[in-house]
Amino acid sequence: MRVSLIAGNWKMNTTVAEAVTLVSEMRLGLDEIDNVDKVLCPPFISLAAVRELIKGSSIKLGAQNLYFEEQGAYTGEISPLMLADLCQFVIIGHSERRQYFNETGKIINKKVQAALRVGLKPILCIGESLKENEAGKTGEVVTEQLRSSLAGINELDGLIVAYEPVWAIGTGRAATGKQANETIGLIRHNITELYDKEIARDLRILYGGSVTSANAAEFISQPEIDGALVGGASLKAKEFLSIVTQTSAMRGHFSHID
Ligand code: 13P
Repeated sequence: MRVSLIAGNWKMNTTVAEAVTLVSEMRLGLDEIDNVDKVLCPPFISLAAVRELIKGSSIKLGAQNLYFEEQGAYTGEISPLMLADLCQFVIIGHSERRQYFNETGKIINKKVQAALRVGLKPILCIGESLKENEAGKTGEVVTEQLRSSLAGINELDGLIVAYEPVWAIGTGRAATGKQANETIGLIRHNITELYDKEIARDLRILYGGSVTSANAAEFISQPEIDGALVGGASLKAKEFLSIVTQTSAMRGHFSHID
Protein backbone atom coordinates (compact mmCIF):
# COMPACT_ATOMS: atom_id res chain seq x y z
CA MET A 1 0.00 0.00 0.00
CA ARG A 2 1.55 3.28 -1.08
CA VAL A 3 0.08 6.47 0.33
CA SER A 4 0.37 9.49 -1.96
CA LEU A 5 2.83 12.14 -0.90
CA ILE A 6 3.04 15.77 -1.95
CA ALA A 7 6.15 17.64 -0.83
CA GLY A 8 6.82 21.34 -1.22
CA ASN A 9 10.45 22.27 -1.81
CA TRP A 10 10.66 25.96 -1.05
CA LYS A 11 14.31 26.09 -2.14
CA MET A 12 16.10 29.33 -1.15
CA ASN A 13 12.90 31.32 -0.74
CA THR A 14 11.15 32.98 2.23
CA THR A 15 12.45 34.75 5.29
CA VAL A 16 11.35 33.27 8.60
CA ALA A 17 8.46 35.77 8.73
CA GLU A 18 7.39 34.88 5.20
CA ALA A 19 7.60 31.18 5.97
CA VAL A 20 5.32 31.69 8.97
CA THR A 21 2.81 33.59 6.83
CA LEU A 22 2.84 30.95 4.11
CA VAL A 23 2.29 28.09 6.55
CA SER A 24 -0.46 30.02 8.33
CA GLU A 25 -2.26 30.39 5.01
CA MET A 26 -2.35 26.69 4.25
CA ARG A 27 -2.16 24.95 7.60
CA LEU A 28 -5.88 24.41 8.19
CA GLY A 29 -6.64 23.36 4.63
CA LEU A 30 -3.76 20.89 4.52
CA ASP A 31 -4.52 19.45 7.92
CA GLU A 32 -8.06 18.55 6.84
CA ILE A 33 -6.76 16.24 4.12
CA ASP A 34 -5.77 13.05 5.85
CA ASN A 35 -5.31 10.49 3.07
CA VAL A 36 -2.26 12.15 1.54
CA ASP A 37 1.12 12.75 3.19
CA LYS A 38 1.92 16.45 3.07
CA VAL A 39 5.51 17.54 3.59
CA LEU A 40 6.79 21.11 3.76
CA CYS A 41 10.50 21.69 3.14
CA PRO A 42 11.33 25.29 4.10
CA PRO A 43 14.89 26.63 4.40
CA PHE A 44 16.86 25.39 7.45
CA ILE A 45 16.42 28.62 9.38
CA SER A 46 12.62 28.31 9.26
CA LEU A 47 12.36 24.68 10.33
CA ALA A 48 11.91 25.44 14.02
CA ALA A 49 9.25 28.10 13.44
CA VAL A 50 7.31 25.94 10.97
CA ARG A 51 7.55 22.99 13.32
CA GLU A 52 5.82 25.01 16.03
CA LEU A 53 3.08 26.10 13.63
CA ILE A 54 2.25 22.58 12.44
CA LYS A 55 2.47 20.93 15.84
CA GLY A 56 -0.53 18.70 16.41
CA SER A 57 -1.47 18.72 12.71
CA SER A 58 -1.04 16.01 10.08
CA ILE A 59 1.50 18.13 8.17
CA LYS A 60 5.04 16.83 8.13
CA LEU A 61 8.33 18.66 7.90
CA GLY A 62 11.43 18.15 5.77
CA ALA A 63 14.81 19.80 5.24
CA GLN A 64 16.37 20.46 1.84
CA ASN A 65 19.84 19.08 2.48
CA LEU A 66 22.17 17.80 5.19
CA TYR A 67 25.83 17.04 5.74
CA PHE A 68 26.82 13.43 6.28
CA GLU A 69 28.99 13.90 9.39
CA GLU A 70 27.19 13.95 12.74
CA GLN A 71 29.13 16.83 14.30
CA GLY A 72 32.45 18.62 14.25
CA ALA A 73 34.44 21.30 12.47
CA TYR A 74 32.33 21.72 9.33
CA THR A 75 31.53 25.41 9.34
CA GLY A 76 28.15 26.22 7.91
CA GLU A 77 26.89 22.66 7.63
CA ILE A 78 23.85 21.03 9.25
CA SER A 79 24.10 17.50 10.59
CA PRO A 80 21.64 14.60 10.45
CA LEU A 81 21.40 14.62 14.25
CA MET A 82 20.36 18.27 14.29
CA LEU A 83 17.66 17.56 11.73
CA ALA A 84 16.40 14.37 13.34
CA ASP A 85 15.34 16.55 16.25
CA LEU A 86 13.37 18.90 14.03
CA CYS A 87 11.88 17.09 11.06
CA GLN A 88 11.09 13.70 9.52
CA PHE A 89 12.19 14.09 5.89
CA VAL A 90 15.21 15.43 4.04
CA ILE A 91 15.68 16.11 0.34
CA ILE A 92 18.97 14.65 -0.89
CA GLY A 93 20.72 14.91 -4.24
CA HIS A 94 18.56 17.62 -5.75
CA SER A 95 19.85 18.50 -9.21
CA GLU A 96 20.58 22.04 -8.02
CA ARG A 97 22.95 20.58 -5.44
CA ARG A 98 24.57 18.33 -8.04
CA GLN A 99 24.87 21.22 -10.48
CA TYR A 100 25.87 24.21 -8.32
CA PHE A 101 27.51 22.51 -5.35
CA ASN A 102 29.26 19.67 -7.11
CA GLU A 103 27.52 16.89 -5.24
CA THR A 104 28.61 13.60 -6.71
CA GLY A 105 27.01 10.17 -6.49
CA LYS A 106 29.47 9.31 -3.74
CA ILE A 107 28.54 12.30 -1.62
CA ILE A 108 24.84 11.70 -2.17
CA ASN A 109 25.29 8.07 -1.17
CA LYS A 110 26.94 9.17 2.10
CA LYS A 111 24.13 11.63 2.74
CA VAL A 112 21.44 8.99 2.17
CA GLN A 113 23.23 6.65 4.58
CA ALA A 114 23.61 9.42 7.16
CA ALA A 115 19.92 10.29 6.96
CA LEU A 116 18.77 6.69 7.29
CA ARG A 117 21.12 6.16 10.24
CA VAL A 118 19.25 8.75 12.32
CA GLY A 119 15.78 7.75 11.12
CA LEU A 120 15.24 10.60 8.67
CA LYS A 121 13.35 9.72 5.49
CA PRO A 122 15.43 10.78 2.50
CA ILE A 123 13.67 12.13 -0.58
CA LEU A 124 16.33 11.10 -3.06
CA CYS A 125 16.23 13.14 -6.28
CA ILE A 126 17.42 11.79 -9.60
CA GLY A 127 16.90 12.97 -13.17
CA GLU A 128 18.53 13.56 -16.51
CA SER A 129 19.64 16.82 -18.14
CA LEU A 130 18.16 18.13 -21.38
CA LYS A 131 21.22 16.99 -23.30
CA GLU A 132 20.97 13.50 -21.87
CA ASN A 133 17.27 13.41 -22.56
CA GLU A 134 17.75 14.44 -26.17
CA ALA A 135 20.47 11.83 -26.60
CA GLY A 136 18.01 9.17 -25.45
CA LYS A 137 20.00 8.53 -22.28
CA THR A 138 17.26 9.05 -19.68
CA GLY A 139 17.06 5.41 -18.62
CA GLU A 140 20.81 5.03 -18.43
CA VAL A 141 21.28 8.21 -16.38
CA VAL A 142 18.55 7.58 -13.81
CA THR A 143 19.68 3.99 -13.42
CA GLU A 144 23.26 5.07 -12.76
CA GLN A 145 22.18 7.82 -10.33
CA LEU A 146 19.91 5.46 -8.45
CA ARG A 147 22.51 2.72 -8.17
CA SER A 148 25.31 5.02 -7.02
CA SER A 149 23.06 6.78 -4.49
CA LEU A 150 21.98 3.49 -2.96
CA ALA A 151 25.33 1.67 -3.08
CA GLY A 152 25.90 -0.42 0.04
CA ILE A 153 22.47 0.39 1.48
CA ASN A 154 20.53 -2.74 2.43
CA GLU A 155 17.44 -1.26 4.03
CA LEU A 156 15.45 1.52 2.36
CA ASP A 157 13.38 2.29 5.50
CA GLY A 158 11.17 5.20 4.60
CA LEU A 159 13.23 6.28 1.58
CA ILE A 160 11.36 8.08 -1.17
CA VAL A 161 12.63 8.67 -4.70
CA ALA A 162 11.77 11.77 -6.71
CA TYR A 163 12.25 11.66 -10.46
CA GLU A 164 13.02 15.23 -11.47
CA PRO A 165 14.14 15.72 -15.06
CA VAL A 166 16.50 18.72 -14.92
CA TRP A 167 14.97 20.25 -18.05
CA ALA A 168 11.56 20.36 -16.36
CA ILE A 169 12.67 22.12 -13.17
CA GLY A 170 11.62 25.75 -12.97
CA THR A 171 11.14 25.92 -16.73
CA GLY A 172 7.37 25.63 -16.98
CA ARG A 173 8.04 22.74 -19.32
CA ALA A 174 6.87 19.68 -17.39
CA ALA A 175 7.34 16.15 -18.65
CA THR A 176 4.16 14.47 -19.87
CA GLY A 177 2.42 12.11 -17.48
CA LYS A 178 3.24 9.26 -19.83
CA GLN A 179 6.98 10.10 -20.01
CA ALA A 180 7.24 10.44 -16.24
CA ASN A 181 5.29 7.25 -15.65
CA GLU A 182 7.59 5.33 -17.98
CA THR A 183 10.79 6.51 -16.30
CA ILE A 184 9.36 5.96 -12.84
CA GLY A 185 8.40 2.44 -13.90
CA LEU A 186 12.02 1.90 -14.89
CA ILE A 187 13.22 3.22 -11.52
CA ARG A 188 10.89 0.76 -9.80
CA HIS A 189 12.20 -2.03 -12.00
CA ASN A 190 15.73 -1.13 -10.89
CA ILE A 191 14.65 -1.34 -7.26
CA THR A 192 13.30 -4.83 -7.91
CA GLU A 193 16.68 -5.82 -9.32
CA LEU A 194 18.67 -4.18 -6.53
CA TYR A 195 16.38 -5.31 -3.68
CA ASP A 196 13.22 -7.30 -4.27
CA LYS A 197 9.68 -7.11 -5.56
CA GLU A 198 8.09 -6.22 -2.23
CA ILE A 199 10.49 -3.34 -1.59
CA ALA A 200 9.89 -2.04 -5.13
CA ARG A 201 6.13 -2.38 -4.69
CA ASP A 202 6.20 -0.37 -1.46
CA LEU A 203 8.64 2.36 -2.52
CA ARG A 204 7.06 5.73 -3.14
CA ILE A 205 8.32 7.49 -6.25
CA LEU A 206 7.37 11.08 -6.96
CA TYR A 207 7.53 13.24 -10.06
CA GLY A 208 8.99 16.75 -9.85
CA GLY A 209 9.45 19.51 -12.42
CA SER A 210 7.02 22.36 -13.12
CA VAL A 211 4.12 20.71 -11.31
CA THR A 212 1.21 23.13 -10.85
CA SER A 213 -2.46 22.87 -9.94
CA ALA A 214 -3.17 22.84 -13.68
CA ASN A 215 -1.09 19.76 -14.54
CA ALA A 216 -0.91 17.83 -11.23
CA ALA A 217 -3.79 15.53 -12.19
CA GLU A 218 -1.88 14.34 -15.25
CA PHE A 219 0.87 12.97 -13.00
CA ILE A 220 -1.22 11.78 -10.08
CA SER A 221 -3.42 9.73 -12.40
CA GLN A 222 -0.46 7.63 -13.58
CA PRO A 223 -0.16 4.19 -12.01
CA GLU A 224 3.56 4.40 -11.18
CA ILE A 225 3.56 7.95 -9.80
CA ASP A 226 2.91 8.28 -6.08
CA GLY A 227 2.88 12.04 -5.75
CA ALA A 228 4.89 15.15 -6.50
CA LEU A 229 7.85 17.20 -5.36
CA VAL A 230 6.68 20.73 -6.02
CA GLY A 231 8.96 23.76 -6.28
CA GLY A 232 7.56 27.11 -7.40
CA ALA A 233 3.90 26.18 -6.91
CA SER A 234 4.54 25.22 -3.29
CA LEU A 235 5.26 28.88 -2.48
CA LYS A 236 1.64 29.78 -3.19
CA ALA A 237 -0.74 28.51 -0.54
CA LYS A 238 -3.70 28.20 -2.92
CA GLU A 239 -1.69 26.34 -5.54
CA PHE A 240 -0.17 23.89 -3.10
CA LEU A 241 -3.52 23.25 -1.41
CA SER A 242 -5.12 22.63 -4.78
CA ILE A 243 -2.44 20.06 -5.72
CA VAL A 244 -2.92 18.23 -2.42
CA THR A 245 -6.72 18.40 -2.69
CA GLN A 246 -6.67 16.98 -6.21
CA THR A 247 -4.35 14.21 -5.10
CA SER A 248 -6.63 13.34 -2.23
CA ALA A 249 -9.66 13.20 -4.50
CA MET A 250 -7.96 11.15 -7.21
CA ARG A 251 -5.85 8.75 -5.29
CA GLY A 252 -6.03 8.76 -1.54
CA HIS A 253 -4.91 5.40 -0.27
CA PHE A 254 -4.10 3.13 -3.12
CA SER A 255 -2.11 0.17 -4.22
CA HIS A 256 -0.81 -0.10 -7.75
CA ILE A 257 0.86 -3.45 -7.85
CA ASP A 258 -0.69 -6.65 -6.61
P1 13P B 1 9.60 23.54 -9.92
O1 13P B 1 8.29 22.91 -9.45
O2 13P B 1 9.72 24.98 -9.57
O3 13P B 1 9.84 23.24 -11.36
O4 13P B 1 10.76 22.80 -9.10
C1 13P B 1 10.76 21.44 -9.01
C2 13P B 1 11.78 21.02 -8.03
O5 13P B 1 12.96 21.16 -8.26
C3 13P B 1 11.31 20.45 -6.77
O6 13P B 1 12.36 19.92 -6.04
